[in-house]
Amino acid sequence: MDLHLQSRTIVITGAASGIGRAVATAAADEGADLALLDQSPSIDQVASELAGQFPDQHIGAARVDVTDLPQLEQTRNRLLDDGRQIDHVVHCAAIGSGRFGMPFTNLAPADWNRVLEVNILGMVNVAHTFAPALQQQKQGSMQFLGSVAGQIGSPTDPPYSASKAAGINFAQCLARDLAPHGIRVNTICPGMVKTPLNRSVWQAWNERQEPSQQLSYDEWGQQKIRQLVPLGRWQTPEEVAATILFLLSPHAASITGQTINVDGGYVMHW
Ligand SMILES: NC(=O)c1ccc[n+]([C@@H]2O[C@H](COP(=O)([O-])OP(=O)(O)OC[C@H]3O[C@@H](n4cnc5c(N)ncnc54)[C@H](O)[C@@H]3O)[C@@H](O)[C@H]2O)c1
Repeated sequence: MDLHLQSRTIVITGAASGIGRAVATAAADEGADLALLDQSPSIDQVASELAGQFPDQHIGAARVDVTDLPQLEQTRNRLLDDGRQIDHVVHCAAIGSGRFGMPFTNLAPADWNRVLEVNILGMVNVAHTFAPALQQQKQGSMQFLGSVAGQIGSPTDPPYSASKAAGINFAQCLARDLAPHGIRVNTICPGMVKTPLNRSVWQAWNERQEPSQQLSYDEWGQQKIRQLVPLGRWQTPEEVAATILFLLSPHAASITGQTINVDGGYVMHW
């Protein structure tokens, strides 16, 4: 299926690692031009590897903290000044608290601040920065990474799951607001995907266990998956990326305001 993403410019946040990096790779493979944003210095390496593989495409990187609105605006302005049209935004950047939050009193209220700042205000900044550019063109889409944790009382990290619930809600506001401008907005919610962020959830849990109860990352993941994931396996970054690319494509022209789980059946709605 041709996704018609050739020469489209896609801004991807959190592209240095995990799901964001998989989205960047898959989008480059479809012929898209990419602006890869991340606070990690390794974003330059990711961009130069992809630029080497796809020399005819514009693939650039910017070191940006999504909580820093002026940095985001400067990056957008540089793209527009270079004569690039921004077609799509995929916002993957997010963090967890790095603490095991069951009971929630394991965390202090102050442990919530940075998670909410990055996950909620970072998303707000991304929307404010890029929506006007899409609006001017009267086309395009914004795809936000949520989480199954934002749809259930997740027994891991309350500030993370609360921030993801807020993100799902704000994406619905954006979808209504931007629909008259021809812009679609969706939230993609992975379940269990092996990435540094997912590993940090295990690490936080493991540190709270008695030595006899501790598990390796794989054992912890398999146990959780057996309990919670009907398909009985990890989801891969590539599977999440494939869904996102479909949502960017004209094949998804009628899909907006949706929360789409790529989670092996972890969360089922009707
Ligand atoms: N891995 C999972 O199991 C899982 C499950 C559900 C949802 N998600 C969501 O998927 C998205 C991607 O997560 P991942 O698992 O690939 O994580 P990851 O840790 O592999 O990647 C996250 C990236 O975001 C970047 N980042 C963090 N804070 C930033 C900031 N302030 N500014 C700019 N960049 C920043 C990091 O440097 C990193 O490169 C996140 O929104 C996450 O909540 C992941």
